[in-house]
Amino acid sequence: RRALFVTSEMADFIKAGGLGDVAASLPRALRGRSDVRVLIPGYAAVLAGVPVLRRVGHVPGIAGIPACDIGEAMTGDGLPVYVLLCPTLYQRDGSPYVDGSGHDWADNAIRFAALSRAAAMMACGAVGLDWVPQLLHLNDWPCALAAAYLRWQHSPVPALLTIHNLAYQGLFPLAAASLLGITAEQRDSIVFHGQLSFLQAGIVHADQVNTVSISYARQITGPEQGCGLDALLAQHADGGRLSGIVNGIDSSWDPRHDQHLCEHFDLHRWAGRAANKRRVQQRFGLPHREGPLFAVVSRLVHQKGVDLSCAVAPQIAAAGGQLVIIGGGEPMIEAQVAALSRRYPTCVGVQPGFDEALARQMFAGADFLLMPSRFEPCGLSQMYAQRFGCLPIAHATGGLIDTIEDGVTGLLFDQAEADALRRCVQRAFRIHRIPELLAAMRRAAMLRPSSWETAGTHYLHLYDRVMERCA
Ligand code: ADP
Ligand code: GLC
Repeated sequence: RRALFVTSEMADFIKAGGLGDVAASLPRALRGRSDVRVLIPGYAAVLAGVPVLRRVGHVPGIAGIPACDIGEAMTGDGLPVYVLLCPTLYQRDGSPYVDGSGHDWADNAIRFAALSRAAAMMACGAVGLDWVPQLLHLNDWPCALAAAYLRWQHSPVPALLTIHNLAYQGLFPLAAASLLGITAEQRDSIVFHGQLSFLQAGIVHADQVNTVSISYARQITGPEQGCGLDALLAQHADGGRLSGIVNGIDSSWDPRHDQHLCEHFDLHRWAGRAANKRRVQQRFGLPHREGPLFAVVSRLVHQKGVDLSCAVAPQIAAAGGQLVIIGGGEPMIEAQVAALSRRYPTCVGVQPGFDEALARQMFAGADFLLMPSRFEPCGLSQMYAQRFGCLPIAHATGGLIDTIEDGVTGLLFDQAEADALRRCVQRAFRIHRIPELLAAMRRAAMLRPSSWETAGTHYLHLYDRVMERCA
């Protein structure tokens, strides 16, 4: 099978969230079992990160989308990566999606339509490459429009769209359509409440839609989590064209070898955990205490329910616990967590921004991870935490339901409300006072199978099913 995995981020080079991790791990998990190659825009970080780049293809421009070249590179461990070269669109510092002040790049419609169109043209064999995919595996809204371009070009190559987060849809003014080479007739299927929706285009035109957990696949067919696309998704589900595969985590998440930890530990040697806990306390300027250490490792956005974590901080402080928070995102939430650390200087520590090394140390040193997400398509942080023996306390939604067994590999609560989280935090304090129980839960969490191997096998079956159905 030749599959092109199209993505707007990949942890090798640049990562804004879990999609970056998945894009780095899943194609690698499929290697050897399938010829999977990656297509990613040539951001500055990508060009800086690829060792050798050969120009192998050319995508002619259309309407407002400039012509692009396609470069071919190989990661250090031999994964083929196609890089979409267009300096005016991609060679900028910062995030794939937003500028330095956090605003969407003004030309995002063009930037990601160019990515989508390049993928479709590759599938049509129209870019001068000798490698032509038999399947497009699209990820989230930035490349979802590829499914539509494929159909409009009457290509028989099937498209699989994985939704990592339905809340980000890629909505643009209708007037952008002509710039993207979309005719008035074609436009109808991709209009969502008076705007162009890249994600809807993907859902309408993909041959199969899947998402990153089984529970989220179910939830998005209902009005509460469907973000206005529930009816469309329910139709897909009825036709057997909506599925869910829980993400995995890669083997670099291992407390026996992780270079970022000050001491290693494993199922049978716990001592190293205490050293990591002390170091986290130090890094956050907190005094050493024996009480439970709670952590938040998150984008600071409404989805993640960080306000709920803030609401339980007084309870944690009063009961002799501590809370450490790392994250960046919405300025209001950033201000809220900063205020918390000023109010509880010995109990709450905050580091703004993103820092993977510190995140790893926190998973290895904290006793509990707070993850009261209002919705969570899959969630990776809870699995990283489990692997490091840090028990997730999470809202029972989406992938958190599929990856956490309440009272065994973490704690779950039903309503995304402060009181429900508070009761769970109380349970956590009780568990922390019973060392045998804490150790048993940690062991269960660390042993929870979450390798990409299994998820990869499900993806291969899905690739086969989609290709057979469309043959
Ligand atoms: P999402 O993709 O919605 O942000 P996930 O849990 O799937 O949520 O993935 C988040 C990824 O980003 C994980 O790898 C997590 O460890 C990492 N991460 C989140 N916030 C931070 C942070 N402040 N610093 C470092 N890593 C972070
Ligand atoms: C999204 C989701 C997250 C998921 C990640 C990777 O960012 O918010 O739940 O784990 O994608 O699939």
